[in-house]
Amino acid sequence: MDVTLGLPVGAQAPDAASLRRFFGEREDLLPLWIAEPYVPLAPPVVEAIEDRAAAGWYGYEVRPGIEAAFRSWMTSRHGWRLDDLAIAVSPSLGTSIGSLIEMHSEPGDGVILQSPVFTDFKPLVTSAGRTVAKAPLSLVDDRYEMDFGALAEAAEGASMLILCNPHNPVGRAWSGADLARVADICSEHGVFVVADEIHADLVLAGNTFTPFASVAGGTEVRWAALHGPIKTFGLAGLADTLIVSDDDETIGRFGDLSGRLHLTRNNVVGMAATLAAYERGGEWLDGFLGDLETNFDRLVAGLPEPISLVEPEATYLAWLDFRGLGLEVPELSVWLADEAGLALSPGHWFGREGAGFARMSIGAEPQVIDEAIERLARAVG
Ligand SMILES: Cc1ncc(COP(=O)(O)O)c(C=O)c1O
Repeated sequence: MDVTLGLPVGAQAPDAASLRRFFGEREDLLPLWIAEPYVPLAPPVVEAIEDRAAAGWYGYEVRPGIEAAFRSWMTSRHGWRLDDLAIAVSPSLGTSIGSLIEMHSEPGDGVILQSPVFTDFKPLVTSAGRTVAKAPLSLVDDRYEMDFGALAEAAEGASMLILCNPHNPVGRAWSGADLARVADICSEHGVFVVADEIHADLVLAGNTFTPFASVAGGTEVRWAALHGPIKTFGLAGLADTLIVSDDDETIGRFGDLSGRLHLTRNNVVGMAATLAAYERGGEWLDGFLGDLETNFDRLVAGLPEPISLVEPEATYLAWLDFRGLGLEVPELSVWLADEAGLALSPGHWFGREGAGFARMSIGAEPQVIDEAIERLARAVG
C-alpha cells in the first residue's frame, strides 16, 4: 500500500516529522490521524488556485466577497439565513477561540469542554490561564449524548462553553432540542457559547446540521459560531475562517484586535480558493459526502471483532471502539502502531473519557479504508 495515500508528488502531509514524533520510527504506518480529506479536492477549487498562482502577482488584495459567498452557501446548503448576523474573517479557528477566550472570560475562569473533544480546545483554555470545567458526554447504548446535568453543574462556575457541533471526534450532529437546552443552560448561567461549527458541511445523509444561531434567538445566551471552508474542502493550509455572531460588540472587538495585531493580511490564493469553494464547490461536496457514506459502510462491514464503529452522523472521522481488546492507555496506541501499522489518534488525546477508542480519518480512497481494515484484521489475528 502506498503510505503517501496517493497525495501528489511534493505534498508533505501528513508530515514525516510529526508522524515519527507521535508514532515512532516504523516507516510504513498508514497515516490517518489528521482530520483532513485525502482525496482529489474539488476541481473548481484546484483550478482557482492554479489560475491565481499563474497570475504572477501576489500583493495586497481586499477580500472580494468572501462574506457574501459564505452567507449564500449557508443559506443554500443549510437553509440558514445570516442576514442579521455580523461576520469577521479570522486566520484560524484557534485564533478565533483564543481571542474569544480573552474577550469573554477572565484568568482563572472555567471554560466548559464536553469531552472527549477536539484536542486543541484544552491547550487554548489552559494556555490563557483559564481552567477546564468538564461536562463529559455520556455514552448511552453506543451513542454519545450530552449530559445536561453535568453541563448545568459546570455552568454554575464557568464563563464559557466551547461547543463542538458537529462533534469531533464522536461524529454527533447535535439536534435542535439538544442545542436549545445548551442555550437555556448557558443563558441562565451567563455562559458565553463558542460554537465550533467547522464540520457543518460534512453531515451524512439522513442527518442535519443545526446552527447554534437558530436556537439562540429565543434566549439571552451570548454566542459566536466558527466556520470556514478548511475542513470541507481540505484548505487548512491555505484559507481563512469566519466568526459569526448576533453580537456586534463581539465582532467589533475581534475586528479591533485583528487590526491591532495585523491579523488581516490576506492570502490571495486562499481567498480565490474560498470563493471557488463556496460558489462552485457544492457538486464536488455532494459526491464526497456519498463517498464518505460508502467508506463508513465498508468499515461497519469489515471491522474485525471486537472493534466497532460508533455510528457517525457527521464528519469524516470514524470513532472506533477498541475497548473489547482490553488495552489500557498507552498500550492501545502502541498496539495500533506496532501491531496494526496504523497511525490513528488514540482516544485519550481527546480527554480521558476517550480511552479505549481511537479516531481514524476516513476521507480517503476506498482502497485506503480496505487496507486499514485488513491491517486491523491481521493485528487482531
Ligand atoms: C472541531 C475543530 N476545530 C478546529 C480545528 C482546527 O482549526 P484551525 O486549524 O483553523 O485552528 C479542527 C481541525 O481539525 C477541528 O476539527
